[in-house]
Amino acid sequence: MMRFLLELAFFSLLLLVFALAKNETQEQPSTRVPKTLNPPKKIDALEGENITFACQVDHLGEFALLWKKNAGGTKEVLLVEKQRITHDSRISVLDDYSFQILDVSRHDSGEYLCVISSNPPVELVHTLNVKYPPSIAVEPSSGLVIVPKGHTKVIKCHIDGNPSPNITWQSEKDIQLFNNSVVTGDTITFDPVDPLHSGVYKCKAENELGIDTGSITLKVLSGPPEIHVPKPWVHAGLDTTKEIKCIVYTESPVNVTWYKDDTQLSNSGDHVRIVSNNNTYSVALRKLTEEDMGNYTCVARNSGGETSATIEISGLASAVKFKSDPMGYKPTSYALMWEVESYSHVIDYLLQFKEKKVNSTDDWEEVTIPAERQPGLIQTQTYDITGLKENTFYDMSIQVRNKFGWNKPTTFAFSTKQKAEPAKPTEKIQEVNENPQPEPYPEHVSSGTDENRATPTTEPPERARVLGLLTVIILSFFFW
Ligand SMILES: *[C@@H]1O[C@H](CO)[C@@H](O)[C@H](O)[C@H]1NC(C)=O
Ligand SMILES: *[C@@H]1O[C@H](CO)[C@@H](O)[C@H](O)[C@H]1NC(C)=O
Ligand SMILES: *[C@@H]1O[C@H](CO)[C@@H](O)[C@H](O)[C@H]1NC(C)=O
Ligand SMILES: *[C@@H]1O[C@H](CO)[C@@H](O)[C@H](O)[C@H]1NC(C)=O
Ligand SMILES: *[C@@H]1O[C@H](CO)[C@@H](O)[C@H](O)[C@H]1NC(C)=O
Ligand SMILES: *[C@@H]1O[C@H](CO)[C@@H](O)[C@H](O)[C@H]1NC(C)=O
Ligand SMILES: *[C@@H]1O[C@H](CO)[C@@H](O)[C@H](O)[C@H]1NC(C)=O
Ligand SMILES: *[C@@H]1O[C@H](CO)[C@@H](O)[C@H](O)[C@H]1NC(C)=O
Repeated sequence: MMRFLLELAFFSLLLLVFALAKNETQEQPSTRVPKTLNPPKKIDALEGENITFACQVDHLGEFALLWKKNAGGTKEVLLVEKQRITHDSRISVLDDYSFQILDVSRHDSGEYLCVISSNPPVELVHTLNVKYPPSIAVEPSSGLVIVPKGHTKVIKCHIDGNPSPNITWQSEKDIQLFNNSVVTGDTITFDPVDPLHSGVYKCKAENELGIDTGSITLKVLSGPPEIHVPKPWVHAGLDTTKEIKCIVYTESPVNVTWYKDDTQLSNSGDHVRIVSNNNTYSVALRKLTEEDMGNYTCVARNSGGETSATIEISGLASAVKFKSDPMGYKPTSYALMWEVESYSHVIDYLLQFKEKKVNSTDDWEEVTIPAERQPGLIQTQTYDITGLKENTFYDMSIQVRNKFGWNKPTTFAFSTKQKAEPAKPTEKIQEVNENPQPEPYPEHVSSGTDENRATPTTEPPERARVLGLLTVIILSFFFW
């Protein structure tokens, strides 16, 4: 705006001066429009050259002559008559009103207008096209791109040059062969980018004035390794031999190190041996001591990151396995049978139970059961939980104590049976002789042997019933 006003002011001043100068001739305002004598010209120049555009006018009269530059639609006045408006000292007007630029640069390309201030104005449009060889700026400027795999990655060579250079890409790998990569002019898009895309990509720009090249090194990191631990908790005893394992999945080279608590493990004679076989990394521990118990961590590192997994070697007993049928056979007691693995002698068991209720606030009933010493690793034990309600569900848990302490509780749920109806004077006779109710769980028959072991003094009535039935059937065959 300011510039426009200035231009206007300057222009008016000039017109006034001209009017004054011409007063003596007492001419009427001319109706004759001047003509330019030169044809429009297009100059192709190289940087550093000097160029001239002519603007000869048949009869300028009282009019002014201006040079303007049309740069992308906005017209900038460079010169009025011989007066330079622009600050660019390379630009000047010669005696014959020709326009000159010395030492042209790429930014001088554009239209140059010789304008005569008649009404209507007369314009002569010349064009300057400054050519220059290609230049490439790679993105990022370091030329090194490191990305994790996945997602979209674009690499780009910014190209400059006039005339517009053609561009070609080269790679040690044949770009076109790769899936998920698209080459468009100065960019390559990898979607998704994959470790397979890693490599050096060269871009080459060429026009008639020369060639420039750029190079981008793409490094695609595979993800961090994945670790699978087949057994995160290993039960061990003193003097036993145990092996712990991490299975490592990775797409790039991986280093696996082992730590016991915070100390890095290394081979130590026969006692600790670190082995790897393909993707299985293991530590074999012989003649375990109390100090060997604890947490072992495998740490796997690759170019994409690191992953770790922990395995605990513990002297505590393993989780309890319940062997009795969750559907009890009796109304007021439940014959519990369980099994546990413990290298060290089991000292005792802590049993807790209570009626299963929603949001129960009842206290747990606790029983400590001394262990029956059995040879071997697996200990089996039974216990009759008494004083229960009939036809009721119970929650319970068991913990096992050995010299290493209490293991984690294992939970279980069981139910008691409904009392037989109608009630008879002696419950025992009724149970044996009658069918109290239809038996909904036929598998009780087959699990009856287990049950026998648990509570050898009583035999489930179903078993007696089935045996009786079988006898009747077999006998009836014989006596038919
Ligand atoms: C123009 O010329 C006339 C007569 O020749 C004169 O009267 C007048 O003052 C002049 N004007 C200017 C602006 O000099
Ligand atoms: C351009 O003109 C300047 C000054 O007249 C001169 O010194 C220079 O050598 C010229 N350059 C070319 C490329 O002709
Ligand atoms: C490209 O993908 C096709 C199927 O989508 C597959 O058969 C081919 O092996 C892949 N090529 C490469 C180089 O990964
Ligand atoms: C690129 O341009 C140069 C010069 O203009 C030409 O010689 C060359 O053949 C072109 N290359 C391609 C691949 O078009
Ligand atoms: C480990 O790899 C080799 C060769 O690839 C193979 O012969 C061997 O069976 C593999 N071992 C295991 C334990 O998978
Ligand atoms: C091993 O790690 C688990 C889980 O973090 C922890 O509960 C346990 O106490 C640790 N064991 C030892 C011996 O540090
Ligand atoms: C693995 O360790 C070796 C030696 O400690 C080292 O040279 C190599 O660079 C490591 N590799 C990775 C992927 O960390
Ligand atoms: C049990 O407690 C939960 C939240 O503690 C509550 O949303 C739910 O309604 C309770 N159920 C009963 C039956 O009280």
